[in-house]
Amino acid sequence: MTAPRKLHIKSYGCQMNVYDAQRMVDTLAPEGFVETANAEDADLVILNTCHIREKASEKVYSELGRLRLAKEEAAKQGKEVRIAVAGCVAQAEGEEIIRRAPVVDIVVGPQSYHHLPQLLRRAAQDGRAVETEFPIEDKFTALPQPRPAAIRARGISSFVTVQEGCDKFCTFCVVPYTRGMEVSRPVARIVEDVMRLADNGVREITLIGQNVNAYHGESEDGATWSLGRLLHRIAAIPGIARLRYSTSHPRDVDDALIEAHRDIPAVMPFVHLPVQSGSDRILAAMNRKHSASDYLRIVDKFRKAREDIAFSSDFIVGFPGESEEDFAATLALVRQISYAAAYSFKYSPRPGTPAAELEGMVTASVMDQRLARLQELIDSQQAAFNAAAIGTTVDVLFERPARNPGQIVGRTAYLQPAHVIAPPDIIGQVRPVAIESLERYSLLGTLADTPPPADRLSMSSLPTGA
Ligand code: 5AD
Ligand code: SF4
Repeated sequence: MTAPRKLHIKSYGCQMNVYDAQRMVDTLAPEGFVETANAEDADLVILNTCHIREKASEKVYSELGRLRLAKEEAAKQGKEVRIAVAGCVAQAEGEEIIRRAPVVDIVVGPQSYHHLPQLLRRAAQDGRAVETEFPIEDKFTALPQPRPAAIRARGISSFVTVQEGCDKFCTFCVVPYTRGMEVSRPVARIVEDVMRLADNGVREITLIGQNVNAYHGESEDGATWSLGRLLHRIAAIPGIARLRYSTSHPRDVDDALIEAHRDIPAVMPFVHLPVQSGSDRILAAMNRKHSASDYLRIVDKFRKAREDIAFSSDFIVGFPGESEEDFAATLALVRQISYAAAYSFKYSPRPGTPAAELEGMVTASVMDQRLARLQELIDSQQAAFNAAAIGTTVDVLFERPARNPGQIVGRTAYLQPAHVIAPPDIIGQVRPVAIESLERYSLLGTLADTPPPADRLSMSSLPTGA
């Protein structure tokens, strides 16, 4: 028997890439590859890239510079290391990557991961292999299922892709070009995946897609199901305690989705609903297909259906033509909603997108200043949201031992990390926790359904870092 070859995947960007990385590991396992956390040990290094903003793309090339040295060093010792670039930069730049970084052996777009074994063979034969087509066959059915041991090693929370691609064509966004048109997976396939995960200890499922609530998958009876309907079906699978979905577009929120939050206890009251801007003029230039008041109305409907619901969002500051007045409208919208969390980004022109052709670039210093103002407001809302948990009892799904011995870390409904002193067999359970304090973004408390342990959790025992 030959020794297993080692595979290291470094993922950048979104949750879809994290999930895809796992699928690549599953695809290469039958080829004798085992995963290693250490790039230096690897026989194959895959950079799973993100093209969403310029900085994300540029990281790939600096990483490739480092890998070139490591590859040369390995070659001196007679070891052959292969380097692959996957993900959205691979899709967008194709052959160009090899021209710019000849150290790369394989370029593989997100629709072709099931071809990785063939691409490796082709690279061994020809020195290079590039595949960035959108193949006709369904990559999801072609990808091997994860082995039970792999599922267990990945923990109690799992992503499941339900749709991929996007037809919205927001003018700033590369996704419709790198991930292609919107495709929904059939209900039966998703149910099979979730059942397999649940059978192997997974308790929380996050349904993911670039525009997840555009989901319109075919069910067994030939009908087309919305995301709301799919959530009902998945919630019925034994073992699934919590359901989430990401990322949603406000235009695709329908009543069935809102009602799912009201009617299904497993559906968590936390929705990532990017708005990008609070200015109608900018929203129109972004081709978002909704106004600020449409967004507020949707948030209101969610809140009426489930009063403890909280929101997170994405924002872009400095979109071309954004005036101080437009930016003030964004701040006003943030104040009106009051977010539990949010991500904000400086506009980054992406080649090939309509916004990249627009005049009226906002200067770097104005962008920096607006980003800082927005982040300060969001941070204060997030801090207030987290502080409001102190003194309450909340359900926590326990995930893993914390870095400090004796502590187990889990998450609240709002994805806040919560630390308690508890035995490890609590992992996988949802238990009430009396929240006593907050350290940075982490909540600290005690199990509310068992007597408090003698050795109470102290603030200083929490690990530092996010
Ligand atoms: N510039 C800045 N931010 C962007 N995003 C997408 N494209 C761009 C861009 N060109 C942000 C949006 C999106 C998130 C995933 O990334 O806010 O919701
Ligand atoms: Fe990009 Fe999201 Fe707009 Fe689709 S809806 S184009 S993924 S920002």
